[in-house]
Amino acid sequence: MLVAERSSDGARLDAARRRLDGIIPAAEWHEVADDIDAILRLKRARNAVILAHNYQTPDIYHGVADIVGDSLALAREAARTEAEVIVLCGVHFMAETAKILNPGRTVLIPDLRAGCSLADSITAADVRLLRERHPGVPVAVYVNTSAAVKAEADICCTSGNAERVVESLPGDAVLFLPDEYLANWVAGRTTKRIIAWHGHCEVHERFSAADIARVRGAHAGIEVIAHPECPPDVLAAADFVGSTQQMTDWVRDRRPARALLLTECSMSDNVAAEVPEVELVRACNLCPHMKRIDLGNIRHALETMTHAVEVDPAIADRARRAVERMLAVR
Ligand code: 13P
Ligand code: SF4
Repeated sequence: MLVAERSSDGARLDAARRRLDGIIPAAEWHEVADDIDAILRLKRARNAVILAHNYQTPDIYHGVADIVGDSLALAREAARTEAEVIVLCGVHFMAETAKILNPGRTVLIPDLRAGCSLADSITAADVRLLRERHPGVPVAVYVNTSAAVKAEADICCTSGNAERVVESLPGDAVLFLPDEYLANWVAGRTTKRIIAWHGHCEVHERFSAADIARVRGAHAGIEVIAHPECPPDVLAAADFVGSTQQMTDWVRDRRPARALLLTECSMSDNVAAEVPEVELVRACNLCPHMKRIDLGNIRHALETMTHAVEVDPAIADRARRAVERMLAVR
């Protein structure tokens, strides 16, 4: 029995090694093998699932994750899982969303400091004040917000479903919070009046149209794909705009000779591993919050069952309504 357990764990480690072959240099395998082996064993022992955002590094994304995707996919999978423990390799609002959808399960985040500038840009009190100023206007909040902010909203959205969510709401105006640039992008695609907030992603706001012009000058025919958290001049100059999953799918389906992904750096690494024939020009920005998660603290999280994410049940109940309404939008 023990031999069988060991050999199936060994097979999983071999499979992880094969997935990472050519993605991390062969000489670096021995640096990650021990952590990957321990994480794969702990996952089974704890009946845990690892959900990893597309911005996680390749050793996590290809080495130990069970589910990878954008914020929408991670929320959908969190609503579906039957594992006892969810390890969220991403940022705090994602772990909170998983906990809101799974109040009876343990949700772990490997580093509690993995925050988000958008989530920090607005409070529940701000949303209440905006409701007073705009009575009767429905409130849609980006998932990149705290549970307390979600609790004040009518519905959540992600960059993957923002237009559909806005169209699903009654009336001719929507309070769309807190990402000003995503709000601006959606405003260009709906007849509804969009009332925005002044939140920005500290990673995407650093891209500029000048970056695109420079790369287009150096690489003729390059396809430029941008995340809607980028400023409006960047989005206007891009060939395609979409969530991280939509960006990945676009490259996977079209397979251009060359592409520039205007988003977090690990996206290009993970997409490059999947479609090696596409040359990805690297002009990206790092998210310091996403980069707080590594194999070492994922292993530690599963060994010690820390850090368990908790959400006040009264807040979670109200926030869950907003998240579930979003998940019901097709
Ligand atoms: P998506 O993966 O939903 O596009 O979000 C990007 C992001 O910045 C998450 O923090
Ligand atoms: Fe937040 Fe931007 Fe980092 Fe995403 S990339 S977690 S929006 S700071």
